[in-house]
Amino acid sequence: MIDWATVPKTELHLHIEGAAPPDFIRTLAAEKNVDLSKIFKSDGSYVWKDFAEFLKTYEAACSVLKTPDDFRRLTEAVLDVSSANGVVYSEMFLSPDFCGGGDLEAWKDFLAAMTVGAQNSKAKHGIETRFISTCIRHFGPEKAVHTAKVTAATAGGLLTGYGMGGEERHLNASDFAESFEIARAAGLGLTSHAGEICGADSVRETLDSINVTRIGHGVRAIEDADLVARLAEEQIVLEVCPGSNIELNVFSKWADHPIVKLRDAGVPVTVSTDDPPYFHTDMTQEYRKLHETFGWGLTDFQAINREAMKAAFCDDETRQRIMAKFE
Ligand code: ADE
Ligand code: ZN
Repeated sequence: MIDWATVPKTELHLHIEGAAPPDFIRTLAAEKNVDLSKIFKSDGSYVWKDFAEFLKTYEAACSVLKTPDDFRRLTEAVLDVSSANGVVYSEMFLSPDFCGGGDLEAWKDFLAAMTVGAQNSKAKHGIETRFISTCIRHFGPEKAVHTAKVTAATAGGLLTGYGMGGEERHLNASDFAESFEIARAAGLGLTSHAGEICGADSVRETLDSINVTRIGHGVRAIEDADLVARLAEEQIVLEVCPGSNIELNVFSKWADHPIVKLRDAGVPVTVSTDDPPYFHTDMTQEYRKLHETFGWGLTDFQAINREAMKAAFCDDETRQRIMAKFE
């Protein structure tokens, strides 16, 4: 029997606020005298029933994350869980919109605090972290341009990527092209959510209008064979989050998940958790489920992790050092 928790893993797609353990958010709410009881079920887990409600609960939970030190504590709490699940390299999505409301000087303080959190976690667990700053799609293109400028002004250190999350049904990727261009010019790696809630067209439109090397989810590309061939041809890396997809009903059961079909078609796939407590998962469970459902073993996971490190937004020394753990 393999102990899936101790198998070394990379994670490329993890929203820092979405990874906040419910107990952590409840503790902060109590410290700040904020009543957040409506976002928790009686068993203590987060309340939501569909994607739109998930985003609302997510933003309500974010409302108690107010200070840089809240985010330092959050970074360490999230990386404690990641480490306990065998993660050795983590890329986390952060957003200047949730850290100081988009103000550059405030964001500098938040980013510095999260960097301290990641350094503390590295000292404690050996885990390596990089940050991907994101704009929030449903906050609109103007805010996204501002977020990209704030991100570009602070690029470097652990902040190595730029991306977009949020309500995929809102506008087109092309509406956000300017913001991605600002981030690209600052030397940041680019990724965007697409093909999660919306279909294959959203992935195609993203590839046509933004110069991303990775797509967050992208799994609904499976609806279009030509697009799957293009992903393979262009070696666009998918940040696949199977447990998230099942919980959001993108696919009704694990056996229906297209990760194997995508991989077999030559598309580089990786495995992440997205917003683990919301989706009742962790990296150990994702690996166990992939093993149970599709028979994936250690060799498959080593290949997946090498693929992830090839696509990671980090320097080559780090890439090679972490890659060596998957040989
Ligand atoms: N923000 C946090 N989780 C997300 C998801 N799964 N899709 C889009 N935006 C998100
Ligand atoms: Zn996501």
